[in-house]
Amino acid sequence: MGKIIDGKALSAAVKDEARAKVEELEARFGRKPCLCVIIVGENPASQVYVRNKVKAAAYTGMDSRLIEMPADTTEETLLEQIKALNEDPAVDGVLVQLPLPKHIDEEKVIDAIAREKDVDGFHPGNVSGLWLGKDCIVPCTPAGVIRLIDSTGVSIQGKTAVVVGRSNIVGKPVAKLLLDRNATVVIAHSRTADLGAVTRLADILVVAVGKAGLVTGDMLKPGTVVIDVGMNRNAEGKLCGDVDFASCEPVASWITPVPGGVGPMTIAMLMQNTISCYLSRMQE
Ligand code: GUN
Repeated sequence: MGKIIDGKALSAAVKDEARAKVEELEARFGRKPCLCVIIVGENPASQVYVRNKVKAAAYTGMDSRLIEMPADTTEETLLEQIKALNEDPAVDGVLVQLPLPKHIDEEKVIDAIAREKDVDGFHPGNVSGLWLGKDCIVPCTPAGVIRLIDSTGVSIQGKTAVVVGRSNIVGKPVAKLLLDRNATVVIAHSRTADLGAVTRLADILVVAVGKAGLVTGDMLKPGTVVIDVGMNRNAEGKLCGDVDFASCEPVASWITPVPGGVGPMTIAMLMQNTISCYLSRMQE
């Protein structure tokens, strides 16, 4: 019988840690950390995410700014906005919610954020830092995935970890973090010939593809730890992951629900990253 990993409870604990840290930092440096979140356009899912990010920042006591820009904002205007935040000494973290409208080059935007304010860990300087084992900001969702696995008490070292998905935001960085923890890592993806044969190898399975119900119970090794990063809407409009919870829960030893698993952890880790950016700036 699978035990549910409570991402909501763990995220509340991480946010409480952040709240205590913010209080300590304000007393020590006379200033709170400040997170700026930019959203371009009216993607409803993105609007919910950014609202939750700003809400979490308020909970921790840090300052935050939400910058809402219309869908027809030009790339140039967005880049100017980012430049202004890069140069603003009161700002510690800059996050541009993805995806961006089609006419804006995402790569250019990510590159434009000052590395030291890149709370998402998407800047090439942070990506190379992760892969070279240097001190850097780690992307929020992958960091949250590792915290969720650690919360089960299952050791990652020596285990076979299968990551399904190879995005820059989740699949690739989570694979590197699992490798850093001495797992034997396999990366599967949309062209993997027999996905079930690969996922059945997993002691730890992380699924980040964006396809509802992709992984079913018959694709799991009994006793595996399942982390579902998917965030999809099913035919009835209900939020669901990439993992078919009903068939996987009885086979897994631990499993994250959707909602209430990885999602809240991403936001909690963003608070930690903002504090890390603040600290490196204050200690420069
Ligand atoms: N869109 C989906 N996930 C993320 C994330 O972690 N950061 C940003 N900036 N956009 C996203």
